[in-house]
Amino acid sequence: MTTIKDVAEMAQVSVATVSRVINQTGYVSPELDVRVRQAVENLNYSPNNIAKNLRRSNSPMLGVLIPDNNNPFFAEITKGIEDVCFDKGYNVVVCNSDEKSDKAASYLETLYRQRVAGFIVVAPGHITDQLQRLLNHKVPVALADRPLADLAADTVIADHYDGAKQAIEHLIGLGHRRIGLIAGRRELETTRLRWKGVQDALHGAGLSLQDRFIFEEGDFQPGSGYKGAADLLNQRTPPTAIFAFNDLMAFGVLYYASQHGIVVPTQLSVVGFDDTMLASFVPPGLTTVAQPKYELGQTVARVLLNRIRGEKKPPIYHILPTQLVIRGSTAAHE
Ligand code: RIB
Repeated sequence: MTTIKDVAEMAQVSVATVSRVINQTGYVSPELDVRVRQAVENLNYSPNNIAKNLRRSNSPMLGVLIPDNNNPFFAEITKGIEDVCFDKGYNVVVCNSDEKSDKAASYLETLYRQRVAGFIVVAPGHITDQLQRLLNHKVPVALADRPLADLAADTVIADHYDGAKQAIEHLIGLGHRRIGLIAGRRELETTRLRWKGVQDALHGAGLSLQDRFIFEEGDFQPGSGYKGAADLLNQRTPPTAIFAFNDLMAFGVLYYASQHGIVVPTQLSVVGFDDTMLASFVPPGLTTVAQPKYELGQTVARVLLNRIRGEKKPPIYHILPTQLVIRGSTAAHE
């Protein structure tokens, strides 16, 4: 008959810790919590159906923080995360920070108190201090999609730099020389990486950016795409192409064009970033940079689960390739 002492020995914890996990009383670090649960499972320790209760009602949880649950981009990442984690016996709690650092911090604190086994975070901006505190408490944290330059944590992103470079090279190859930009949120490392790709593509073709062709108030929402199009296209010599730093803003550009009699792509070429599921359905089909969203979610989930299981190697920084998908919104500039 397996005893609580056997469980404690296998998990290399005290009997009191095993008791706290089984009775859900008092705080146990996620690392020990997982070790005890695994020992209970391996030893099939189940006086009064303890193991079944733990399995059924208190499977370990993971916290996933995304910045905008309205954006289909994050839904596809979350699906990849959830499919991997659920298969490994974890429940996933998804929280929306609305691109607000204080809301993100509040969710991190709440889920920490609920003793989640770890976090996957798409940062809404600067929340390095809160994430560093979690890491200091041995709570595993992995970053997805948006790196934080000042946080040493596992990070899985798509190649923002190369994706933006491909987008501009595509437009230059079509003969466009007046290229407008609707950038993403300036404070993000993601935006900086894309900017670098844009600049390197232009410099590689002996071109440079004109300030009047840059709209810097992009917030990744369609409305800022619409406003950016209005600013960029109401000039004496407007751009012949616009590259928006995500699909939702590119949709705002397409909507502006349709409202003002501008024919895409013959009078204006438009490129987005993400390749969300809408990109191929919104007429005339959006040329955009495809991010491997589902795969990115699966990958970051596996990285976090390895960390929870006690992976001691230094943090990884994994970049997945991006790929330009050409559809009907771009054409040669005569
Ligand atoms: O659409 C949302 C944008 O912010 C995407 O480009 C994604 O990379 C995220 O960071």
